[in-house]
Amino acid sequence: MTDTPDPDAVAPAVDSLDTIVSLSKRRGFIFPSSEIYGGINAVWDYGPLGVELKNNVKRAWWRAMVQERTDIVGLDAGILMHPQVWITSGHVGSFSDPLVECGSCQRRYRLDELPGAESLSATELRETGIVERLGLVCPNDGGPLSPPRRFNLMFTTHMGPVEDDGSVVYFRPETAQGSYVNFKNVQQSSRKKIPFGIAQIGKSFRNEISPGNFVFRMREFEQMEMQYFVRPGEAAATAFEEWLPRRRAWYEHYGVAPQRLRFREHAPDELAHYAQKAIDVEYRFPFGWKELEGIHNRGDFDLGSHARASGENLEYFDPATEERFVPWVVETAAGADRAAFTFLIDAYREEEVRGEKRVVLGMHPELAPYKVAVLPLLKKRPEIVALCHRLRDDLARDVMAVYDDTAAIGKLYRRQDEIGTPWCVTVDVESLEDGAVTVRDRDTMAQERVPLEGVKWLILDRLSVARG
Ligand code: GAP
Repeated sequence: MTDTPDPDAVAPAVDSLDTIVSLSKRRGFIFPSSEIYGGINAVWDYGPLGVELKNNVKRAWWRAMVQERTDIVGLDAGILMHPQVWITSGHVGSFSDPLVECGSCQRRYRLDELPGAESLSATELRETGIVERLGLVCPNDGGPLSPPRRFNLMFTTHMGPVEDDGSVVYFRPETAQGSYVNFKNVQQSSRKKIPFGIAQIGKSFRNEISPGNFVFRMREFEQMEMQYFVRPGEAAATAFEEWLPRRRAWYEHYGVAPQRLRFREHAPDELAHYAQKAIDVEYRFPFGWKELEGIHNRGDFDLGSHARASGENLEYFDPATEERFVPWVVETAAGADRAAFTFLIDAYREEEVRGEKRVVLGMHPELAPYKVAVLPLLKKRPEIVALCHRLRDDLARDVMAVYDDTAAIGKLYRRQDEIGTPWCVTVDVESLEDGAVTVRDRDTMAQERVPLEGVKWLILDRLSVARG
C-alpha cells in the first residue's frame, strides 16, 4: 500500500470540455476566429470577458515574476527577428513534430496523437518503420499511413517588397530568443548581477500539425516566459529546483486544485534540443494530463550558440570573483492561453441552491473579469438607477465594474455567478433613505449592508486580502 494517490485517478474539474466551450461562447469569453467565414483552424478570439480574464492572468504572472522580485526585469522584443536567430537557436533544424499522412484521404496527423501511439518514446517516434510495426491506420477512413517525417512548425513570411529566399523571416515560435539576443543590452542597462532574469509576455506562432482541444493547442498563442541567468553547473541545478515549487504555488494561489497539478520529468530522449533537464507542470484537463508549463535547465546552449554565431562576446564578468563565464539559463515557459483556460476550467462548478442549479465560476477575485456588478432592485425608479450609475462610475475608476438591469435580481445574481463576479452590490428603495447598499458574496451568497461610501474600500480591501 502506498499513501501516494494514483495521479491518473484524479477527476477533472469538469467532465466534458463542451461545458466550457459553450459557456465561453455564450458569455463572451472565447469565440472561434473569423467565424462568419467558417472559422480558421486553431485560432481563437477572446471576447469581452475573455480579454479581461487573460489580461488578469498576464498581470498576475507579471506581478509574481517581475513586480514583486528584485532580480527579474521585463522585456518586449519583436515577433519578427533576424532569421539567423532561428538557425542558431536550432529551430530551423530541429523544431519539428513527426507527421504521418493518409494515402487515401490525405489527412495529416501528428504521430504521437494517433490512437495507439500516444505513449511512444521520442526514439520510437523517429523510427521509420513504426507505423507498420504497430499496424497504425488512418482514424478517418482506415487508409494506409506514410512513415513519419519531421514537419517544421515555424511559420514564415517575407520581409520587404521582394519575395525571394533572401527575404524569408520567421514568426517567432517562442519568446525566449528575444531575451537571449538582448541579454547584454538588458544586463548592462539594468546593471543586474547574476543571478537575474528577463521576463516576457507575447504572441508566438506554431504551425501545429494537430491543434485542438479548444484553446489548448493553437497556431497563434501567447507565452509568458522567464529566462533566469545563473552561474554554470551546480548553481543552475539549484535554481532549477527552486523554480519548481514557486511555479506550482502560483497556480495554486490563483485557484487550481493541488490534486489536479503534477510535475512530469522529460525522459532523456524526449528532451528538446536545448534542454539538459526539463520538468513539465501538468494539469488534469478533461482530456487527460497535459502540459501547462515547461521548466528547463538550458545550460549554456543559448548564450553560447548566439555568441559563436554572432561573434559577440556574451560572457558575464563577475566583479566579486573576477571570473568571466557564459551564463546558464533556467527557463520557466508558460502559456497565457493555457493558464487562462486552466483557471476557467478549475473554477467551474455546478451546485443546487433551493432546488435550482447554480453555475458558479469560483475564480480568484484577481482573475475574475468583473470585480463587481451594480444592480438595481427596482429599475423603474429613476433615483435608484441614477444612484447605481454613480456608484458604478466611481468603482470603475479602480476596478472593472458593470451595471445590469436586464432581469429580476435573482437572475442578475446568477448571471454574475456564472461569469465569476466576486461581489454584487444591490441598490434598493431603502438605499435612497439610509445611504446603504447590499453587498452579496459570490461564494457564500451572504449579504451585508454597507454604507455607500464604504463599498469601494470594502472591495479594494477584499481584493488586497485575496491577492495575499
Ligand atoms: N521557450 C520554451 C518553450 O517554448 P514549450 O514547452 O514549447 O517551451 C511553453 O512552450 C508553453 O507555451 C507550453 O507549456 C504551453 O503552455 C504554451 N504553448 C506551447 N505551444 C502552444 C500552443 N500550440 N498553443 C497554446 N499554448 C502553447
